[in-house]
Amino acid sequence: MEIKTKQLKNELIIWYKKNKRSFSWRETKDPWKILLIETLAQQTQLERANEYYEKFLKRFPTPRSMSNSSLKVILKMWSGLGYNNRAKRLYEASKILEKKGFDEIYPNFDDLPGVGPYTKNAILSFAYGKKVLAVDTNIERVIQRYFGLDDTKGFFIENSKYLLSKVDSRDLNQAFMDFGSSICKNLKPLCTICPIEKNCKKYFSKNKKSYEKFKGSNREVRGKIIKLLIEKGSINSQKIIEEIDADSMIIQKALHGLKKDKLIKFKKNNIIEINPN
Ligand code: ADE
Repeated sequence: MEIKTKQLKNELIIWYKKNKRSFSWRETKDPWKILLIETLAQQTQLERANEYYEKFLKRFPTPRSMSNSSLKVILKMWSGLGYNNRAKRLYEASKILEKKGFDEIYPNFDDLPGVGPYTKNAILSFAYGKKVLAVDTNIERVIQRYFGLDDTKGFFIENSKYLLSKVDSRDLNQAFMDFGSSICKNLKPLCTICPIEKNCKKYFSKNKKSYEKFKGSNREVRGKIIKLLIEKGSINSQKIIEEIDADSMIIQKALHGLKKDKLIKFKKNNIIEINPN
């Protein structure tokens, strides 16, 4: 696998140098900026995430500025992105970072709320120049298809060193991400113009969900509840059920989940509001 892996790496880097999209955070080494963009970019198109990034960075240039804000303000700025839990966790992370700072937490960034193995490695690679792979769905899909694998875990254990040798891990990680989202795409891969097509196994695994059903889903209803609470302040649960066009059982379930995630708070008489903390 060593030769084929190194060849893949070299070809991807050549492709990236020619096709790289330019964003201000691509060049930064500020871990706060990286945490911001990586949190915003989860499940979101990069161009769109970038618009939010500019807005967030202006308002919250440091963890302290966010920690001094409120969940309500952050959720309001977040609106349109979905997955409000991510906003809540970022807010909690900012409170920890305000006290400890990235250098003190280094390298255990996954101790921060909302930071999993992907974001941890993204920070280690982009901010600290460490030779690690930030494995997201893009890199996983490229490796799966190219080498014909169902499970990539073993591959990464064996071959990460070959992928990372003689290369800036920042370029390699971004190369995989850009390549996976513009050429080796999930739904309609552009194999006809793919520069690594010749040696690719073109293995399209069957059991991957192609897209999540969103309409009427728990996630959609959660978003609608948060939007309503931002607009109206406190309201009671009956009013929420009346205002939102969805099955009342789904609304109850969404309310329960939001409470459990500490995004909302139940007060007396079933009055609900965004968690002030
Ligand atoms: N998607 C999420 N983070 C990204 C990054 N740093 N580069 C390209 N695509 C991304």
